[in-house]
Amino acid sequence: MWGGRFAEGPSAVMREINASIPFDKRLWKQDLRGSVAHCQMLKAKGIIDAADADIILDGLAKIEAEYEAGGLVENLALEDIHMHVESRLAELIGPAAGRLHTARSRNDQVATDFRLWVRDSIDAITGGLEAYAQALLRRAEEHADTVIPGFTHLQVAQPVTLGHHLMAYHEMARRDLGRFADARARLNECPLGAAALAGTGFPTDRFMTAKALGFDRPTANSLDSVSDRDFAIEFLTSAVQASLHLSRLAEEIIIWASQPYGFVKLPDSYSTGSSIMPQKRNPDAAELVRGHAGRILGCMTSLMVTMKGLPLAYSKDMQDDKPPVFEAYDLLALSIAAMTGMIDEIAFVPERMRAAAAGGFSTATDLADWLAREAGVPFREAHHITGRAVKAAEDAGVMLPDLPLETLAAIDARIDRRVYDVLSVEASVASRKSHGGTAPDQVRARIAEAKQQWEKR
Ligand code: ARG
Repeated sequence: MWGGRFAEGPSAVMREINASIPFDKRLWKQDLRGSVAHCQMLKAKGIIDAADADIILDGLAKIEAEYEAGGLVENLALEDIHMHVESRLAELIGPAAGRLHTARSRNDQVATDFRLWVRDSIDAITGGLEAYAQALLRRAEEHADTVIPGFTHLQVAQPVTLGHHLMAYHEMARRDLGRFADARARLNECPLGAAALAGTGFPTDRFMTAKALGFDRPTANSLDSVSDRDFAIEFLTSAVQASLHLSRLAEEIIIWASQPYGFVKLPDSYSTGSSIMPQKRNPDAAELVRGHAGRILGCMTSLMVTMKGLPLAYSKDMQDDKPPVFEAYDLLALSIAAMTGMIDEIAFVPERMRAAAAGGFSTATDLADWLAREAGVPFREAHHITGRAVKAAEDAGVMLPDLPLETLAAIDARIDRRVYDVLSVEASVASRKSHGGTAPDQVRARIAEAKQQWEKR
């Protein structure tokens, strides 16, 4: 393909380090799409002969059918997917194949293929994240009233509802979808026609190829077109953020499933046993989602470090852009599918959650709030009085709602019988009606609104 000025071929090691076909074969569909659009443009502009163009298009269709049937034969001497397609085309149609590469370079070709691939992948991830968010919504609706301890520092803080907790992850998933959509919008310009780096002297129509490939417009600068991979980095940063969210929920599922918590029972379909301990049911899927988040972060770092020192325009380092993006996509797609399945099938154990929420004096804030609201006590003083009530309950080995009125009244005479209305976990969550708060009515309102937003998408 470039042997004209060389007397000898490359060494075996050179061939191996140079070849990208072992991984960039994943771009074959996008490569063919790009070549079809390019060839149609060359034909329309009269840059190549119409008869040759038709033969080329025919050959590309044959290659598509071959590859679809698994017929791509890897050959390191042919370096990459672009040369594999071109060489197969030459085998099929003869010398006309050599006209396809008019007015383009592998530099704009690979930039185009890769943008198409990342765009397709954003669409696939978007579908997965939508299904995941909807699974969270369904389970949240089912558990709008279920009480679970809310934690800070992993210490019981205030009771919340499980529906509210699950909807927190739903909100994260919606923002993750927004990040992928933003990345897609910025990505959607077509580098094809930038050629090696400087553009081309042929009378091409870059608007035509951009449109044919579903891009909004051609890219504005040929140097930028072939030498930036920010679209891939944005895909990776979006993937990292989504995977961090999945990882946090995975971590919670792992904690909730441990025996001292017992808040959930993992479905058989998403857990594993132990070869030595017959009683075990391990949260392996959740642990791997947590683990994969680290690997996806590694992929992002990898591409950023590849790019950070490269002068314009193309350098071969950039061939290393693809493995981390492919890997991150595979890991994220699998993680989303696993979390969706787990959320769909996990069994919550409301009795255990309620018992844990009622322990740990989780309604202490409600007592302090009551003193401030009903007895006019300044909140700081109310906080202090409540601290003494918690100590009294702790000494007596009971929960706050079980303290006798005499004990409470002895701590502060302004406390009367009405205080018991706010000390249960149910009363506590029901009272938190502020916008975005955990009260079941608020959670149901947010679920209804979210459903409408989904319908509008
Ligand atoms: N296989 C290369 C890549 O993935 C594309 C070709 C550009 N090669 C070149 N020597 N200019 O980056």
